[in-house]
Amino acid sequence: MSDERLVPGQRIEIYTLENRIDSGGMGVVWKATKPDQSLVAIKFPNLQHAQDTRFQELVRREAAAQLNLRHPNIVPAEDVLEYNGLPAIVFTYIDGPNLEQEIYGANKILDQGKPLALPRALHIAAQVLDALDYAHQNCYVHRDVKSSNILLNRNTDDAFLTDFGIVLNVAVQRVTRAGTISGSVPYMSPEQITNPMSVNLRTDVYSFGVVLYEMITGTLPFRVEAGETTDPDFLIKEKHLKSEPVPPSQINSAIPVELDRIVMQALEKTPDRRFLGCAQFLRSLSAVEIVEKPKPRVMWNASLQPTPVPLPAPVPSRRRWRLPPLGQFSDRLPWLLFGAAGILLFLLGILYFLRKG
Ligand SMILES: Nc1ncnc2c1ncn2[C@@H]1O[C@H](COP(=O)(O)OP(=O)(O)OP(=O)(O)O)[C@@H](O)[C@H]1O
Ligand SMILES: [Mg+2]
Repeated sequence: MSDERLVPGQRIEIYTLENRIDSGGMGVVWKATKPDQSLVAIKFPNLQHAQDTRFQELVRREAAAQLNLRHPNIVPAEDVLEYNGLPAIVFTYIDGPNLEQEIYGANKILDQGKPLALPRALHIAAQVLDALDYAHQNCYVHRDVKSSNILLNRNTDDAFLTDFGIVLNVAVQRVTRAGTISGSVPYMSPEQITNPMSVNLRTDVYSFGVVLYEMITGTLPFRVEAGETTDPDFLIKEKHLKSEPVPPSQINSAIPVELDRIVMQALEKTPDRRFLGCAQFLRSLSAVEIVEKPKPRVMWNASLQPTPVPLPAPVPSRRRWRLPPLGQFSDRLPWLLFGAAGILLFLLGILYFLRKG
């Protein structure tokens, strides 16, 4: 059965399909409802690879890892369905964007995202590092840590790690071809590129260093620049192996020097120079102080004078003088009459004295 045969409204066991959320390399993710109307996300394996024994091994490993790992910041697997001989994993539905969508919005092609506010970036980082540390303690190396594999609950802003599609169980001998599977190029550690059989948990430290870089700068540490025409994957792999990333504070001046140092340590080329593991990475991040820059005090000087607001243009008047309005004139009339009578009396008095004299 091909993926196109999954349609909205279709019943699969107790689940009713709603709509397709995403289709990636490993399969297709559908939103679905349970009989109690609660939501789930079902990840169906890509049946085009159903006969490939390596692919079969990967989907079985993913299902086993997701069922084994129970952590508040790992998307919980609720059920595993048998779908054309392969497992389809039923996850609790996380209502919100993945971290890649949150950083880049619709702009992913331009590779110019918007950095998250630092306290929020550190909050998300703490949750994902704790989830990774838990997976490592249980002998799982994720190997595909990237922003689209971190889901955000839009109501609580809690972060959830998902997609253990190429997880490596280091407790099991690496005798299979699946041991050589690599992650996504922009997040790949140097050892994933040169010697994938050798990777250990520090590969996740490196890849999460790339995610942290993205969260605080809004861009990737290694990317194709304008004018670079070589094969993009080859170019980015070369940069992982040979180039130093631009320190994040040169892109976002709000980044304190300790955070710069932490990101650069996670992105060290040699695994031994990185953090020992995600717990140590998390401890270093917890010590970072985000000091809100004080708002600049406004000092009075000539250059800060308010911009004059232009007055409305005067309405040209044809008359320079006007009669007072009728109300004003009539108010003054009694006083005018009283004054005139006084002057008249004064003049009559003078006339009387002149005649007498
Ligand atoms: N539980 C979930 N709730 C909501 N959305 C989910 C859930 N699981 C996966 N998704 C969505 O589907 C996308 C792909 O999921 P996932 O990474 O597990 O599949 P994938 O086939 O391995 O993808 P890719 O190959 O691109 O990494 C996620 O980025 C997310 O947007
Ligand atoms: Mg994925």
